[in-house]
Amino acid sequence: MQQAELIERIKDLKKKRNAVILSHYYSRPEVQDIADFVGDSLALSQEAVRQTADVIVFCGVHFMGESAAILSPEKTVLLPEIDASCPMADMAGLESLRKEKEKHPGVPVVCYVNSSAAVKAESYICCTSANAVEVVNSLDAEEVIFVPDKNLAAYVASRTDKKIIPWEGHCPTHHQILREDVLKMKEEHPEAKFIAHPECRPEVLELADRVASTRGMIMYAKESEAREFIVGTECGLIHGLLKEAPEKTFYCITPYACCPSMKMVNLEKVLASLEKMQHVVTVPEDIRIRAKEALDRMLAVKINR
Ligand code: 13P
Ligand code: SF4
Repeated sequence: MQQAELIERIKDLKKKRNAVILSHYYSRPEVQDIADFVGDSLALSQEAVRQTADVIVFCGVHFMGESAAILSPEKTVLLPEIDASCPMADMAGLESLRKEKEKHPGVPVVCYVNSSAAVKAESYICCTSANAVEVVNSLDAEEVIFVPDKNLAAYVASRTDKKIIPWEGHCPTHHQILREDVLKMKEEHPEAKFIAHPECRPEVLELADRVASTRGMIMYAKESEAREFIVGTECGLIHGLLKEAPEKTFYCITPYACCPSMKMVNLEKVLASLEKMQHVVTVPEDIRIRAKEALDRMLAVKINR
């Protein structure tokens, strides 16, 4: 089927099902272009709550669809690709987290939204890359257990007085961005600002002009006087950057900065998802209620965006 026909059929079915399409910035460009809303993890969670549609087609990885299903149980949340999971989320298991909590009695767990519903349910509060520092600082505790991203944990630790107990997890896509990649790109583009996602290694973040969530990086590029930017995150973000700042130039830090899971969703799968109402995200009710408490606590924390 031609792309134009695919898009028409998706639009027709969206009306018929009273559905909306939400997409993360790392999705394929053509998928972002048919979405009703494109955002970072925080904005996508907020949008899932705000939406009045009956059906949400979530173009992203599993934990993102799961968060929407946790926050909006009255809606049907569909994942066009059931195998699109986040490897970092899979690095924190429930049993290991329980053991870690036993080692640190009374210490609250802050869990990055890139985690399973069961891990969220076992945590006190969630955070995203957009609000991690504010979430940690909002807690009435001297120390916190931070799961699953050790790089985001290190970034937060550099911006808080609280003691951060990190977890041995990381995002393979961001972790393979190396300091030498940044130095090479800076040499090639000496005028460019380096913008980076906090899932990158500390030695990479040290070189950044701005560390922010995907949405935060777009806002910075739009508002900055600079004309060129080296993009230290999954290179799918360049589509969103060019849409909002078309007069500027963006350089992908390395061709290796690609998240295979985020690229699994294409237009054919979005159409199949609406046609067959697949794959419905479900979360057992006892887990959903406790995971929602952790997400709701996060959504109540005020941040400047
Ligand atoms: P954001 O919350 O910044 O969009 O990041 C999500 C993510 O998965 C980064 O790898
Ligand atoms: Fe997970 Fe990394 Fe992909 Fe984000 S970019 S979804 S953290 S693997």
